Amino acid sequence: MRHLLVPNRKVQAALTEITKHDWLSKEHRIFSSEDGNNRLIPLSFSADANLPEPLCNFEIVFSEGKPNEIIDTDWWNHLENLVGEEALIQHKEAWPSSHEFFADMMIVRIDDSIEKYTSEIARAKLLSHPFIRLVLSDGGVLGELRIRGLKPIGARKDTELYFENIPSELTKTKVSVKESGRYISCDPQLAYYSTKLQTERLETLRFAKELRKDLNRPLAVCDPFCGVGPALSTLIAEEDLVERILASDLNAAAVELLFENLQRWDKREYPTESKPIEQYYDDRIVGQADATKLSGNSKYSGKWDLVLVNLPHRTIEFLPKIIPLLNRNNISLIRGRVIVAESDIKYANEQINQILPPIASGKPKPQLKIKRDYSSTLRLCSFEAWIDKEFN
Ligand SMILES: C[S@@+](CC[C@H](N)C(=O)[O-])C[C@H]1O[C@@H](n2cnc3c(N)ncnc32)[C@H](O)[C@@H]1O
Repeated sequence: MRHLLVPNRKVQAALTEITKHDWLSKEHRIFSSEDGNNRLIPLSFSADANLPEPLCNFEIVFSEGKPNEIIDTDWWNHLENLVGEEALIQHKEAWPSSHEFFADMMIVRIDDSIEKYTSEIARAKLLSHPFIRLVLSDGGVLGELRIRGLKPIGARKDTELYFENIPSELTKTKVSVKESGRYISCDPQLAYYSTKLQTERLETLRFAKELRKDLNRPLAVCDPFCGVGPALSTLIAEEDLVERILASDLNAAAVELLFENLQRWDKREYPTESKPIEQYYDDRIVGQADATKLSGNSKYSGKWDLVLVNLPHRTIEFLPKIIPLLNRNNISLIRGRVIVAESDIKYANEQINQILPPIASGKPKPQLKIKRDYSSTLRLCSFEAWIDKEFN
C-alpha cells in the first residue's frame, strides 16, 4: 500500500493535511523508517493518485501496511471470546487476520480447517469493524471470467447481527468503491475487480507517463481485458495523458458496470446494458468482445500505443493475438501480468521475449517481476515491454 515518507519534524503538519482530506488509512498504523528519521504514514485506498500541495512534496513508498493495533487486538479478543483460548491457539496460523474491503463489504478467505467456525469469524469481524454491513467468504477466482465465488456469512442492520437467513436487502454486492480519488461501480459476485491491484495500476500510470513523454503526445490506450475499467480510471483521470481508449471485456456483467463507470468518469451517455463493442465517441470504443479476435478487425488493429494484458493465467498464450493491436509506427508499450511457478520464471521470460517484437533501444528487456504469492508454488508477476517502432 501507499505510505507517505515524512521527516519526523513535519509529521504533525502532514497528518493535519491528510486528515483534512480523510486520506489516513484507518486499518493501518504509522510507523518509523529504518533510520528513525522519518515516519511512514499509511494512505487510504481512496486517496488521489496525484497528491496536492504540500503532500506531493513527500516521497511515496509502497510497502506492506502494518495493521492498526486497536482494530487488530479487538478482532483477536472478540474471536477468543467466541471460540475459546484453546481453539484460538490450536488454529493460530489459520485464522483470517487479513481481509479485503469493498466499500461496506468485507471479503475473507476461510481455511478448510476452521470452516466450522465460520459464524464466529463473521461475528468477530463485524464486531471489530463497526462500519461493515456484509461479510462474505471467498471461494477464490473462478473460470474464464475470473469471478469470485462468494458466500454471505454475516451481516449487520443497525445494531442487529445476522449469520443465518440473512435478509436479502443486506446481501446486495453491487457497491461503489473510491479508488485513487475516483468512484468505481463494481459487483465482485458478477465481475472481476480487486482493490489489491491499486499499486499495479499506479505503476501502469507511471509507465504511461513515460511513454507519453517519449511520444510527445497523449496516448491511445487499449484495455481488452478491462473488467469494470479500474486501470482506465486511473489513466484517463490524468490530464493530457490519454487521447482515446478501447475498453472491452468478454463478461457482459463487467461491460454493464464499465458503461456505468464511463458515464460517471466521462460525463457522457453510455448504454445501460452490455452491448457488443462499438465506437460511441471519437475517443471511446467500448463494449463486449473477445480480446483474441480484436486484431482481426482493421478498425482496432495497429492503433494503440499502450496495451494492457490482464488475464494472468493466459497472458503468454494470448500475446501473439494481442501484439497486432499495437501501433508500430512509433514506440509502444505492453503491460502484462502472468501467473507462473517460481521455478518456471526463467522459461516464461524466454517465452515472452521470443513472442515479442524487437524491444526499443535504451529500454530494459521485458522481465517478469514477482508481485506476490498466488499459491504455495505459483507467483503473480508483471512485466512491461517497450516495443520498437517497425522499420519498413
Ligand atoms: C483478471 S481480470 C482483470 C480485469 C481488469 N483488467 C481489472 O484489473 O480489474 C481478467 C478479465 O478478462 C476477462 N476475459 C477473460 N477472457 C477474455 C477474453 N477472451 N477476451 C476479453 N476478456 C476476457 C474476464 O472477464 C475478466 O474481466
